[in-house]
Amino acid sequence: MSQHDLDISLRVNGEEISARVEPRKTLVDFLRDDLALTGTHIGCEHGVCGACTVRLDGDVIRGCLVLAVQCDGTEVETIEGISDSGAIADLQAAFQRRNALQCGFCTPGMLIGAQELLAQGQVPSREAIRAHISGNYCRCTGYQSIVDAIEAVAKQRAERSPPPCGEGLGVGVAPLGPAGEESASVSAFTSRPDPPPHPPPQGGRESR
Ligand code: FES
Ligand code: FES
Repeated sequence: MSQHDLDISLRVNGEEISARVEPRKTLVDFLRDDLALTGTHIGCEHGVCGACTVRLDGDVIRGCLVLAVQCDGTEVETIEGISDSGAIADLQAAFQRRNALQCGFCTPGMLIGAQELLAQGQVPSREAIRAHISGNYCRCTGYQSIVDAIEAVAKQRAERSPPPCGEGLGVGVAPLGPAGEESASVSAFTSRPDPPPHPPPQGGRESR
């Protein structure tokens, strides 16, 4: 602690937090080091890889580009809180089912980014999915399987809640919230998963 440290108060995953932090400490370091929320990862530390993705007052941001002191009075949601809410249970299950992760390092950020896209309420094209996750780098899983998983969930959500006008799939409004599928814990995405149920996809990575 130094005389320059500052007091902050914020909500993290619904919990009121008060802390004294160094002015130079980033949000992701604060989450990991001070709050032990290690599901948010650190990769490039300059806003490129997406490993540190969290929500700040509802917006998806890079935790390495925001200082903890800037978050005074805000609401932060990490992969732990979002996962515990059940809002992405279907995405997590689809990532496991489609073999869309290997080491899991990118997966928390990838899931938060995917949920942001699906919250727009339509079934996005594969091109739109690729564009949306282009700021989240995965170094060991083919992007093909990640796009497959996100696309599958978009269609599932649209099927569960067809548009009131009775139009076909592809333009349906996808609701947020628990999908009632097999739940996958955060730990499944922060450590190496069990062997996948299906062989890994062949053919290498999909270009972005
Ligand atoms: S660690 Fe923040 S974007 Fe890479
Ligand atoms: S970096 Fe994406 S699963 Fe390993």
